[in-house]
Amino acid sequence: MSESFVKVEVRGRVGLLTLNRPQVLNALSNEVIDELSAAVRAFEADDGIGAMVLTGSQKAFAAGADIGAMSGWTYMDVYKADYLGGNWDALRRARKPLIAAVSGYALGGGCELAMLCDFIIAAENAKFGQPEIKLGVIPGYGGTQRLPRAVGKAKAMDLVLTARMMDAAEAERAGLVSRIVPVERLLDEALEAAATIASMPLQAVMMAKECVNRAFEASLDDSLLFERRNFHALFATEDQKEGMRAFVEKRKPDFKHR
Ligand code: HXC
Repeated sequence: MSESFVKVEVRGRVGLLTLNRPQVLNALSNEVIDELSAAVRAFEADDGIGAMVLTGSQKAFAAGADIGAMSGWTYMDVYKADYLGGNWDALRRARKPLIAAVSGYALGGGCELAMLCDFIIAAENAKFGQPEIKLGVIPGYGGTQRLPRAVGKAKAMDLVLTARMMDAAEAERAGLVSRIVPVERLLDEALEAAATIASMPLQAVMMAKECVNRAFEASLDDSLLFERRNFHALFATEDQKEGMRAFVEKRKPDFKHR
């Protein structure tokens, strides 16, 4: 059997994915991403899962794409294989929420993988950066697009062009991460956030995610209409009836995720 680079666990209604390639600080190879995307696909298909958490080790969420593997590749190798397409690109299409729990280094492709998640919870020791320029390349997995959307042009240019790292406090100030927690609290905090999300009506969660993402992809006019139509659609669900009835009757809702 081949070595496994991603540990897959279920915690209640939460799917937990842990990158597990410690000898190279969770460097991301095609094999790692194939495993990760297969695990995400399985959680997406599982009605018992309402949200997912992606994490790494205490020292590294992921220190980037696998430089050893890439070092000998030619233009034709990466072009013909459409490197960073395929299963890499498929990850961003997850419809259930995916939270990144980042401790230690999130560099290059590791930072990009964290940014592809719906939000990032960072441990106090987290370090974010896009150091590809030092290797003679540029971010190729969304870094030049998602980083400026998250932190603005000035800081994104600074990070991408100088290759410097930013610590958790700077990342939170800049809007890249939603919360900072002590290292030892990271996983529990992320799992609790995911469990909270997973306890909400799944169809409302998925539509909310689609609508927020739309804010980065379409005009305000189109996105407002998209949001309104999704809002309307939720009145067709049992959970909307249950949620509102429970509020009126002053009791806890019993959501069926339908
Ligand atoms: C392959 C890596 C790696 C990587 C670390 N290692 N990062 N191997 N690819 N991205 C390996 C090291 O070679 C070393 O192996 C082991 O992990 C431990 O790393 P050290 O460097 O000894 O640790 P430390 O001194 O603590 O430094 C940590 C570090 C440094 C600052 C994170 O490892 C580093 O700068 N890594 C590269 C970061 C980077 O440039 N990332 C961007 C990659 S390009 P040995 O065998 O010596 O023990 C990229 C493209 C994006 O991501 C587009 C596509 C996704």
